[in-house]
Amino acid sequence: MLSAASRSLRHGVSARSVAVLSQVRTKMTPAEALKTIESEQKKCDDALQALMKSKGDSFTFADAKDLFANDKELSAAVAKIRELDMDIEWSWSRMQSLHQSLTKPPLKVALTGAAGAIGYAMLFRIASGEMFGPTQPVQLSLLDLPAAQDALKGVMMELNDCAFPLLKGLTASASPETAFEGADYAVLVGAKPRGPGMERADLMAANAQIFSVQGKALNKVAKGAKVTVVGNPANTNSLIASANAPDMSPDQFTSMMRLDQSRAEHQLAAKAGVDVSAVQRLVVWGNHSASQYPDISHATINGKWAKDVVKDEAWLKNEFVPTVAKRGAEIIEARGASSAASAANAAVAHVRDWATGSEGRWVTMGVPSSDAYGIGPGIWYGVPVVCYPGGDYKRVGGLSIDPYSAEMMEKTRLELLEERDAVKDLLP
Ligand SMILES: NC(=O)c1ccc[n+]([C@@H]2O[C@H](COP(=O)([O-])OP(=O)(O)OC[C@H]3O[C@@H](n4cnc5c(N)ncnc54)[C@H](O)[C@@H]3O)[C@@H](O)[C@H]2O)c1
Repeated sequence: MLSAASRSLRHGVSARSVAVLSQVRTKMTPAEALKTIESEQKKCDDALQALMKSKGDSFTFADAKDLFANDKELSAAVAKIRELDMDIEWSWSRMQSLHQSLTKPPLKVALTGAAGAIGYAMLFRIASGEMFGPTQPVQLSLLDLPAAQDALKGVMMELNDCAFPLLKGLTASASPETAFEGADYAVLVGAKPRGPGMERADLMAANAQIFSVQGKALNKVAKGAKVTVVGNPANTNSLIASANAPDMSPDQFTSMMRLDQSRAEHQLAAKAGVDVSAVQRLVVWGNHSASQYPDISHATINGKWAKDVVKDEAWLKNEFVPTVAKRGAEIIEARGASSAASAANAAVAHVRDWATGSEGRWVTMGVPSSDAYGIGPGIWYGVPVVCYPGGDYKRVGGLSIDPYSAEMMEKTRLELLEERDAVKDLLP
């Protein structure tokens, strides 16, 4: 049987639920009730985060359970939190989220191209809590061209009409410096999309200038921002933005490869006849372009090596790789416009994992390249990373690369070097 307090917590947030709880137990105000367990909550959070960091890829929830069971201080902290309610097992996490949403400062999220197709498919998901979690308030700052400001007004009306509890601020601007001011996260989507028959080189020339201006603006007004570039060519645009932001670490700039990863996961799962969640450790190396290399050499399907499950080299080379790599063009051909909802979904997933951690899962992000895997520095290259809560990521190292993979990885590397050469005038 649930206590009155638990029933109340189940049905409502904020003052109501904690008020019942506090009346039952302590006659404290909600804020006072939460205050009494603040240091215990912090102790538990810190211990969990330190454990996840030290365990890295091998972290599991069983490790967390062991830690809490075997550490006296932590057990006592959990007991104290539970003391507030007899049936607190589930409502502890509820209280924790209530506590957090009462006290967490909003994150400022700037989105460029906010009046465009991807922007429209993304904004409502950010405001609803899908990107930073259900307890993290956000302020949205929308950037688009002067001609799109009317359209932005309409988008803002719609956002307001959703009455999202987590949306604590909403502004629009046509000036990068105004829009980026103090941003914690910036998602750079705004660019000219590729239309039917448009060459990548034309697209690059049109878009390179945008990311040079925006890199400078970020450097001036949002030095701490974590930046995700979606606008194409996303990898080289990250390089341009980062090169124009000398006071920011290159690691603050990532390009989105997540759509390629999801596309590859779907193709592989469909071939193996399994649910997409059975696929892990799939990597997409290199550029977000037709030269990318979706690689299943390290992937598992329900814990077995994907190659042993699929056992079809010809399918891998002749169907899987080209289908994933050319999926963007196939979608443009079919709908007469570039992928928007799936791209928005991938951007939400990319930033969510970067900000809140990937729980040991490998995710592919375009990050500043290093000497690992013979890539060499100076380009933004898709590699597998593991993300940790708070915005840290670690590149997955030490993977063995077979000759076919090496050849494919080299091809996409050379394309990125060519792109870099094509925009060298914009690299200070
Ligand atoms: N990385 C990926 O996986 C991926 C996937 C799909 C699309 N994309 C790219 O995302 C970009 C946006 O696609 P979309 O479908 O939303 O296009 P869209 O044309 O619908 O929207 C683009 C928006 O950007 C705005 N914009 C243009 N220049 C701007 C600037 N300098 N500052 C601010 N805003 C500006 C436009 O006014 C427009 O509102 C394209 O470059 C597309 O190729 C990337």
